[in-house]
This record gives sequence, C-alpha cells and structure tokens, in this order.
Amino acid sequence: MTNEKRKNEHLRISLHEPVDFSGVSTGLDRYSFIHQALPEINLKDIKLSVKLFGKNLAAPIVISPMVGGIKYAVRINRNLALAAQSLGLAMGIGSERCLIESPSSAKTYKVRDLAPDILLFANLGAIQLNYGFTVKDCRKAVELIEADALILHMNPLQEALQPEGNTNFAGLLNKIAAVCRELPVPVIIKEVGCGISAEAARKLVEAGITGIDVAGAGGTCWSEIERLRSTGEPEKRIASHFANWGIPTADSLVMVRKAALKLPVIASGGIRTGIDAAKAIALGADAVGIAAPLLKAADESAETVEAYLKEVIEVLRIAMFCIGAPKVSDLKGTPFIYQF
Ligand SMILES: Cc1cc2nc3c(=O)[nH]c(=O)nc-3n(C[C@H](O)[C@H](O)[C@H](O)COP(=O)(O)O)c2cc1C
Repeated sequence: MTNEKRKNEHLRISLHEPVDFSGVSTGLDRYSFIHQALPEINLKDIKLSVKLFGKNLAAPIVISPMVGGIKYAVRINRNLALAAQSLGLAMGIGSERCLIESPSSAKTYKVRDLAPDILLFANLGAIQLNYGFTVKDCRKAVELIEADALILHMNPLQEALQPEGNTNFAGLLNKIAAVCRELPVPVIIKEVGCGISAEAARKLVEAGITGIDVAGAGGTCWSEIERLRSTGEPEKRIASHFANWGIPTADSLVMVRKAALKLPVIASGGIRTGIDAAKAIALGADAVGIAAPLLKAADESAETVEAYLKEVIEVLRIAMFCIGAPKVSDLKGTPFIYQF
C-alpha cells in the first residue's frame, strides 16, 4: 500500500465514520470549576494572548497536525491556515514523510503564503528516524514549509496495527536527542491519541526536547481508524482489543506537567469546547490542540473553521471570567478547579 493511498483512507474514515473513543473519555469530565460569583474583573479586560515557542498567539490554541502529501490536503490545509492567520492561532502540518520522499508534493503542505505570521509546526513521525530519515531530513521538513518548530509524533500502537507499519521503535531516544541537539528550532514530541506517560516524558526531557503535546485518549481513536481500514477479519479483531487503549488526556497532562515542570505543554486529544480548553489549561497546559472537528470544518470552508474556533475562544474567555482569571497564566495557576 502506498503512503498516499493510506493517507487518503485515513482522511476518508476520519471525515465520514465515527472514530472517537467510545469507552474512554478525556478525563476532563471528572473536573469542575468552582464558580466565582464575585470575580472582581471586567469581562472585556480578559486577555487570552500567550507566547509559545517564541511567537505570540491571540489565544492558547493550536490546530493539530493532520494532512499533507495528498491532493485533498491542499484545500484542507488552506482553510485551516486562513483561519489560523485570521484568528492569530498556531497550526501544525500533517506528516511530511511524503514531502521528504517526493518534493513535488510541496504544494500540499505549504501554507506560509496564506499564513505569514502564525506559529507553524513542521511534522514527522519520530519512527522515521529508524527507517532512514536523518537530522538533515528533519531540518528539510522545517525549512521547506518555513516552519518555526518541528513536531515529532510517536505512534507505536498505530504503526503496530497497520499491515505496512514501521514497528522498530528500538533505540529511538538517542536519535531524538541528536535532532534536538542539531536543529536550530524547538523540537516538540507529540502522541496521536494514546497520551504520553510520566516515564516517557522524563526520558524525553533528558534527551533535550523543547515541548510536549500529550495527544491523549478521549478524542480521535487511531485503533478504531485502523480497524475500519483493515480488510482482514483477524486484523479487525486485533485492532478492536485496543478500542479503549491509551492514557486519557487529563491524566497524561497531569503526569507530563509534573515530569516536565519547565517545558511548554500542549494538551490535545478530545479537546472539543472552550470548557475543555479551560480545564486543560487549569491542569497545567500552556495551550490546547484540536484536530478532528477542525478537519470536518475545513472540509467545508475557512469560515466554518473560524466559526468553530471563535466559539471555543469565546467560551474560554467567559470561563476565565467566571473564575476571576484575567490572564491565561492566572487560569493556569487557578485554585478553582477540583476533581470529583
Ligand atoms: C486525519 C488525521 C490525520 C492525522 N495525521 C497526523 C499527523 O500526520 N501527524 C500528527 O502528529 N498527528 C496526526 N493526527 C493526530 C492529531 O494531530 C491529534 O493528535 C489526534 O487526532 C487527537 O486529537 P483530536 O481528538 O482533536 O482529533 C491526525 C489526525 C487525523 C484525524
């Protein structure tokens, strides 16, 4: 199976089939805010702006990496980039493996002309470092799309469930460390929906990474996407055993925050509303990432993406108001969140 065919299938299934976890939630539903009837601030003075990896964002929101390398990606990335630029948010591009292997696919990844000011993340699977990719390729992934930082995603379960998956994850840490040493831009490690543990985070911090995106369980479920993609009955059955596998986003976030006290942490995996975003930031995230709902919106138009994100931002703003947090840093340190 070609990389392109696989990507088209992932996109089709993500757009048209139910692929969210059904038996695991993000864990954010276990938390509530303590409403403050006396917030002592003016709603119009709430400031959502943050600085992340050296760039200013109008709100602490990242459009998580999804597509690139296929024709359909041009429209999706265009609509995502236009919304990111218009709202002053950050955006990741989907895995650039195709771009490194065939530079003619560049137009499916490039969005800098549409979004000259945004914090833009390049993206590669860390596993590619065990399958011939080098630090030079990582540098290329950043330079070719004029990105500000590189996301290396880790996806052992997804690779294990793909018939054509790359499953030799041995000795990756040293290679990630070399990328961190030699790349002139921040290197962020991200999962794709199974979360990052405290142990993994500690090792990655020692390896020199600049940030972590937990991409925990509770949103898009990759074992389900691979189950729907499989043609053989045994493969479908094997994938189904992992339908509830993964560290819920809230739990991964709390673990990673403790293990990486000083690093920027992005919470993603099942973030759907401004309340989810507020809870994740209150639990220690510096920003949140959203993927699948924005894919569906981008399939319609840039305006639909923008409308979805505006609602998330407005709900986040009101949530901050109702707990008396005038800035994102105040929300991050709020005592007004509890687990029940
Ligand atoms: C169609 C699709 C393609 C994706 N491709 C990538 C990718 O290339 N690189 C990556 O780091 N994550 C990729 N992801 C994972 C998302 O960035 C995100 O971590 C995951 O979907 C969980 O977030 P969500 O629950 O908001 O969808 C992809 C997700 C979707 C839906």
